[in-house]
Parts: sequence; structure tokens; C-alpha cells
Amino acid sequence: MEIKLAENHGFCYGVKRAVEIATEASNEPGRSYTLGPIIHNPQVVDKLKNRGVSPIEEVSDISEGTMIIRSHGVGPEIYKEAEEKGLHVLDATCPHVKKAQMDAKSVIEDGMTLVILGEKNHPEVKSINLWAKNKGIIIEDEKNAENLQVVEKMGVVVQTTFSQFKFNSIIGVLEKKSKNLKVFKTICNATQERQNSAVDLAREVDLMIVVGGKNSGNTNRLAEVCRDVGCTTYHIETSAEIQLAWFENVQTVGVTAGASTPDWIIKEVIETMKEFEELLAAAGQEDFKKGN
Ligand code: F3S
Repeated sequence: MEIKLAENHGFCYGVKRAVEIATEASNEPGRSYTLGPIIHNPQVVDKLKNRGVSPIEEVSDISEGTMIIRSHGVGPEIYKEAEEKGLHVLDATCPHVKKAQMDAKSVIEDGMTLVILGEKNHPEVKSINLWAKNKGIIIEDEKNAENLQVVEKMGVVVQTTFSQFKFNSIIGVLEKKSKNLKVFKTICNATQERQNSAVDLAREVDLMIVVGGKNSGNTNRLAEVCRDVGCTTYHIETSAEIQLAWFENVQTVGVTAGASTPDWIIKEVIETMKEFEELLAAAGQEDFKKGN
């Protein structure tokens, strides 16, 4: 059985940076906290917890220590609240998200109508809008765009993980909604690159294993795109979920992982698969001896 790893997989730049910031904080004296889980991966969150970096829900949950802002970012009032409390803030907002926040802010300051392309309830989209004093109109699809009124000046900011395909099509609609349309293309390539690599691999293997948190949107999407090209796909969080039966009569297995899946989990998955491969090979030899 051949195991192939997707060309682009696992931690993206922003997530890697956020986990590094949290890990460094765990080496410092004093308590550290992340505002919300640092990433959508329960194993990483637990590991950090064991090193003394716990997630909190609100700034009001703590009165001292270091507070880490995760890669999705937060609104300006959180920085203010933390400063007023005298907390030490480590900002792990992904620089791509930071740019989208600042672009949204500038659109409002320039007196334009702000349109944000993204998922209404996604923390990143909420944080972008907070920098624009919550004045942005959040739209998710072409239908939402069609319903917008025609305005004099419009600025568009995009959720970093938004689909490029959907972006092009929505912009086509928005071009009819304002004569002065300024588009800040704040899409980050990491998500698209992982999806493209996953599809390429799914097309050439018998089976795909997608590794990552069940609560991770981008990992779920990776599993979806692999299934869409007709490849049998299993989405697992850790090596403990792998089943021997999956690999019977399988020649090639592809492995990919979401942007919030650490390398050590991917490594464990590959190691377990290699052990299973040996078991299957040994079982095959037994059958051969028995003349089956
Ligand atoms: Fe940043 Fe892109 Fe990752 S926006 S958090 S590098 S998916």
C-alpha cells in the first residue's frame, strides 16, 4: 500500500504563528489564557491547557495574566477592555485578517458603504465588522448581493477563507450596485491551495484520509471536496479512529489535513497506517500459505 501526502496540507501560516505564540507564552512565568480556543483542534487546545494556557470565553473571566488573541482576530473594544484591566496582550491575529480589519475600517472612514463577503456568524467576519463600527453589510451569496441598494461609493472586504469562485461571481453582481466600487481582495491562498492539493490527490488514490478537528470548517470542506470527486474519504481527528478494514484491497491512500491540524497528529496517522499495512501484509501471507 502506498501512502501519499497532499502537497499542501496542515498548519497555515497564521495558525502556525498563533500556536507558536501560545507555546512561547506557556514557557513564561504567570498564567496565560487564549480568548476562545486558539485553533479548531481539540488536541492542540488540550496540550496547551496541560502547559498552563487555558481558553477563556470573555475578558471578564480573568483579572490578571497574559491574554492571547487568536488568529481570527477581535474587535477594538477587546484591546481596550484588556488594557483597562492591565492584562498583558499577545496578538496572534493573522496578518491577513488584520489587513482585512484595517481595510474595512478605512472604507468606513472614507465615507463609503462597506460590504463584507463572508459567513455572518464567523468570528473573523464579526471582528472585521467591529473595526468598521459594525457598519458593514455582510453578504454570503449572489442573492444577497442582488438585494443590495445602488449606492454612490462601495468598498468590499472579503473573509480570508472565502471561495475565489464565489468571490468572482458576487463581484460581478456588485459591479451593478455602485459606479465607484473599490474591492479589497483579502482572500488568503492557504485554504484554496489545500483544497486544490486534496482534489488532485483524491483523483489518483483509492482512499483519502482527511485529518483534523470535527469542528474545523476548513477540514470538513477538505473531506467534502475529496468526496465530490468520487473518492472514498474518512475524516478523522486522531490515529485512534483508523480502522484496519478501510485498507483491505486498497493500493494507494492519500492523506491531507486541515489548516488547524498539527504535524505531530499527521505523523501519528501515517505511522498507524504503516503498522496496519504490515498487519495486512502478514495476514495476506498467512492466506497464501493456507492456499486461499
Ligand atoms: Fe491566516 Fe490564511 Fe491561515 S488568513 S489564519 S494564513 S488560512
